[in-house]
Amino acid sequence: MRAKIVNATLADGTKTSIDIVDGTIAGFEGAGSFDATFDVRGKYVIPGVIDAHVHFREPGGEHKEDWLTGSRAAAAGGVTTVLDMPNTNPPTIDANSLEMKRSLAAKSLVNFGFHLGATTGNRAEIEKLRGKVAGVKIYVGSSTGSLLVAEDDELRKLFAIPDILWLVHAEDENLMKKNAERLGTISDSALHSKLRDRKVAIHAIERVLRLARETGARIHLCHISTKEEVELIQKAKNEGLPVTCEVSPHHLFLDESAYVTQGMFVKVNPPLRTPEDRLALWRGLRYGTIDIIATDHAPHTIEEKKRGYTEVPSGMPEVQTSLPLMLDALDGSDFTLEWLVSAMSTRPAEIFSLSKKGRIAKGYDADLAVVDMNKSQVVSKKMLFSKCGWSPYEGKNLKGWPIMTFINGNLVFDNGKINEDNKGKEITYGNV
Ligand code: DOR
Ligand code: ZN
Ligand code: ZN
Repeated sequence: MRAKIVNATLADGTKTSIDIVDGTIAGFEGAGSFDATFDVRGKYVIPGVIDAHVHFREPGGEHKEDWLTGSRAAAAGGVTTVLDMPNTNPPTIDANSLEMKRSLAAKSLVNFGFHLGATTGNRAEIEKLRGKVAGVKIYVGSSTGSLLVAEDDELRKLFAIPDILWLVHAEDENLMKKNAERLGTISDSALHSKLRDRKVAIHAIERVLRLARETGARIHLCHISTKEEVELIQKAKNEGLPVTCEVSPHHLFLDESAYVTQGMFVKVNPPLRTPEDRLALWRGLRYGTIDIIATDHAPHTIEEKKRGYTEVPSGMPEVQTSLPLMLDALDGSDFTLEWLVSAMSTRPAEIFSLSKKGRIAKGYDADLAVVDMNKSQVVSKKMLFSKCGWSPYEGKNLKGWPIMTFINGNLVFDNGKINEDNKGKEITYGNV
């Protein structure tokens, strides 16, 4: 199958046509005959977004999301590859559970990879599965699901395993327990931020960085949310520690005032923070302290989100809205589309060693998003593909939307419509 995208503008302003042969970018401005031609005059073509942090919920949480619905939402959001988190039921912590998830993910429309979960007892499995997963997730504080490794001794044993990229959910379990004792029974939504206060996150990051320094482990810090974390990570980078980090859209676009307007729908771990933290995160992106944007797409149903504080699960759906939110934010800022491509595609591919992803270059996979920078659209329920059926950004008017998404050279999303004829593939790891 030979296809050609003509009149494309790349993120750096280059005008060209892109030749796709059997799912791969074969070159530019090629002659000869093509089976299909797509004219995208006036639109940008960027590498598809790589979302390194999603919860697609299968197995065990199919009433919230499954690989088909989650991947439809991804494709509609210009996302061509997702890396799925292990806090499913059963959790993805060994070869059997990984195999089970792999067979469920076969229906995904976007390309996919997996993070394994760390426990206090699965070091042998982690060693065995090295190179077959993107990374290994450690929850140093409890969140959704049962995964938890809270103590330094256990973390040290894990970090001693060579050649693993450790993704850390950094909220300190013991501090959270102390806060819970002090605060008693919580019924007010604003108290979520007190239970999981900023010290809970900052202390966890300090501990993890100290252990990284001790052991030399390669660390990726998930969803950082405070000004102090940005400072600590910059310091660690200055020291030369092999540490990277991500920020999630909700921490960039929402702050704790959203608890007043959206209540428990925006309950999330780590919680929303202050406007000052939000600005510090944007600065962290601006100066390169924060490496990538990853959504932490964590769908829960509307019925679940309407429960009382203690029963409401944390997290919100985001895989479809991250690119439009970021495109909208470019307008009038000193961020460029080239920078966005780096933070949402090229760098994620590098950090997680995804082969042939994250660039528009000869030999790379034809995973592409066509972006209309002039399209204005209000986020509304009817456009959402996630099974959970809501978004914290509903009602927001955004300018800049993906209008077509090519995955392995196939047009999977085309102006609001999903084509389900072709499935995504599992990622391979290692240098290109
Ligand atoms: O808010 C969150 N939701 N934070 C997490 O760490 C997990 C996630 C989920 O799986 O629901
Ligand atoms: Zn997390
Ligand atoms: Zn998560």
